[in-house]
Amino acid sequence: MMDFVIFWDWLSFAVRWLHVITGIAWIGSSFYFVALDLGLRQRPGMPVGAFGEEWQVHGGGFYHIQKYLVAPAEMPEHLTWFKWESYATWLSGFAMLCVVYYAGADLFLIDPNVLPMSVPTGILLSLATIGVGWVVYDLLCRSPLGKSDTGLMLVLYGVLVFIAWGLTHLFTGRAAFLHLGAITATIMSANVFMVIIPNQKIVVADLIAGRKPDPKYGKIAKQRSLHNNYLTLPVLFLMLSNHYPLAFATEFNWVIASLVFIIGVLIRHYFNTVHARKGNPTWTWLAAAILFVIIIWLSTAPKVLTGEAKASSAAEVYIASADFPAVRDIVLGRCSMCHAQEPVYEGVYQAPKGVVLDTDAAIAKHAREIYLQAGRSHAMPPANVTEISDKERALLVSWFEGAGK
Ligand code: HEC
Repeated sequence: MMDFVIFWDWLSFAVRWLHVITGIAWIGSSFYFVALDLGLRQRPGMPVGAFGEEWQVHGGGFYHIQKYLVAPAEMPEHLTWFKWESYATWLSGFAMLCVVYYAGADLFLIDPNVLPMSVPTGILLSLATIGVGWVVYDLLCRSPLGKSDTGLMLVLYGVLVFIAWGLTHLFTGRAAFLHLGAITATIMSANVFMVIIPNQKIVVADLIAGRKPDPKYGKIAKQRSLHNNYLTLPVLFLMLSNHYPLAFATEFNWVIASLVFIIGVLIRHYFNTVHARKGNPTWTWLAAAILFVIIIWLSTAPKVLTGEAKASSAAEVYIASADFPAVRDIVLGRCSMCHAQEPVYEGVYQAPKGVVLDTDAAIAKHAREIYLQAGRSHAMPPANVTEISDKERALLVSWFEGAGK
């Protein structure tokens, strides 16, 4: 039991590490290509079929890049594709969803005060939101609406706001934000997997066969690329949001998430304009800052509590343990001044990370977290401000490990 919990925590860290690495590779290459594309210049005397070119200097050498809209006169022997950055990010992200939110569904996915459901139902619902999100998005892009970039984006935004609202009525605030990010990121990755790469393959095959490719394939891919470009920054915010309960665990969390999409678009618009050498729209930063202040203000509305935490049957064993009375004393004495509905510790205004440890049920529900944060490691209490002793830590460990047997 103990070995498994420790292994699981490290697995979670390893998958997270991988996800950040692949995410950097994907976002890095896609931002690079967007900037490259916008910065291309034309000059007389370029090779036949070349649309534009750019000189760059990096790492001790000069790069001369030329863009061919369809293909060069001769297909190059070696062609580098950019797709695994995206697929690996999605796969590692999905693995993390399983490790954190499905394995820890009781704590992180399902909130009985929002919508009571069993763990399997929660997981099915989570998978369904991600799948349906892509289907709805894809159908909208293929519909007549898809002909207008702006019209499509406005409707998609409306859909995203609706999804944000809906998710906060299904899951914990933390999971709602994560799912909004996962739905958006799935759309981005599926754009690469289902549309951009297949369309590029058709074009390449046509060129190899000496046929003239239909330009519609490039146009469709371009629109999906544009969406990916604008969706990147909001996804990053949503993925990081679980560290900041003021974002995800307050009354207007879905409004906050909706505004974050606008901020992301504003900031991308700034860089896209600068990279295209079309000016310096600093107003976008001002608008983003104003929206951020509105978000801060919205987050001061506390979440209305609708009920008491109930211990699930899985958590009952921790209350039934003979060690529990002593554990309760330790937690109430060393943790609850911060981890309470209304913390009394100076400078702490909300239960840190939404972890409330003030009732038997709540303590039992967080047994694994208490074990990892204050038993096995010394992360809690921070700087040991409440002076928990080594003996008390040892008791937290034996309580958790013993109850799990
Ligand atoms: C002085 C206030 C304070 C005390 C006392 C305190 N905590 Fe915390 N706790 C925090 C803060 C602040 C965070 C958020 C840390 C962060 O942002 O990484 C936190 C986070 C946590 C988390 C969530 C960690 C995560 O990353 O999800 C757990 C679980 C936790 N504390 C358990 C405990 C336990 C158990 C005790 C008592 C042994 C305790 N805390 C005592 C302030 C406190």
